[in-house]
Amino acid sequence: MSFDRSIKIAPSILSADFANFGQEIRAIEAQGADWVHVDVMDGHFVPNLTFGPPAVKAFRPHVKTFMDVHLMIAPVDPYIEAYAEAGADMITAHVEAGPHIHRTLQAIKAQGVKAGVVLNPGTPAEAVEDVLDLCDMVLIMTVNPGFGGQKFIHSGVEKTRKIRAMIGDRPIHIQIDGGVTPETAPLVAAAGADCLVAGSAVFKGGSVDNPEVYGANIRAIRDAAEGAQQAA
Ligand code: DX5
Ligand code: ZN
Repeated sequence: MSFDRSIKIAPSILSADFANFGQEIRAIEAQGADWVHVDVMDGHFVPNLTFGPPAVKAFRPHVKTFMDVHLMIAPVDPYIEAYAEAGADMITAHVEAGPHIHRTLQAIKAQGVKAGVVLNPGTPAEAVEDVLDLCDMVLIMTVNPGFGGQKFIHSGVEKTRKIRAMIGDRPIHIQIDGGVTPETAPLVAAAGADCLVAGSAVFKGGSVDNPEVYGANIRAIRDAAEGAQQAA
């Protein structure tokens, strides 16, 4: 995957039909998704439980684009190898999930997959400054992680601007996750984000039998973000 700052839309399959992941993944990709975002939750770091490595391995053959695995688990390090072997193209880990984010990012890189660092809404931009050179992406949470369908937290916009400035011309993506809609996407795109995760805003109103709705939802987010990126 070559690096660029064009807008990428990464639907979160947390909002998909849980009885139908293969078809849902194929539907969102056919409808224009650039990446597929997989939310891994442990009922400990966040108050919800989702996908273990065998589930991620089952998604893998359906993903033709890029599988971005967001680990909301603590500890992280004992599970990195299993998620890499399950087929993640990128693994992101929270700076709040343990005392050694530098070691965690080294461990992700050692698996030969791309590495991202994640910040919760309550964590300042400076928390990632010293690990940027180990990262392919910084993920800025604009909700408290654990659930889809929450309201966008606006302090993420200024944080995006700060991290974009810190990154300078290094090839590091900025991803936004939580409450992304056609209304909020332009705010973060103008501030420097290039990858937008969206769960409810992509899946709402559609289904595998009516996938054109996914396409329209993805287009609405992309158009709003691209317009703001170009104007910035
Ligand atoms: C939240 C997850 C998100 C979530 C986004 O813990 O990391 O990826 O699915 O959902 P929406 O887009 O509905 O806020
Ligand atoms: Zn996520």
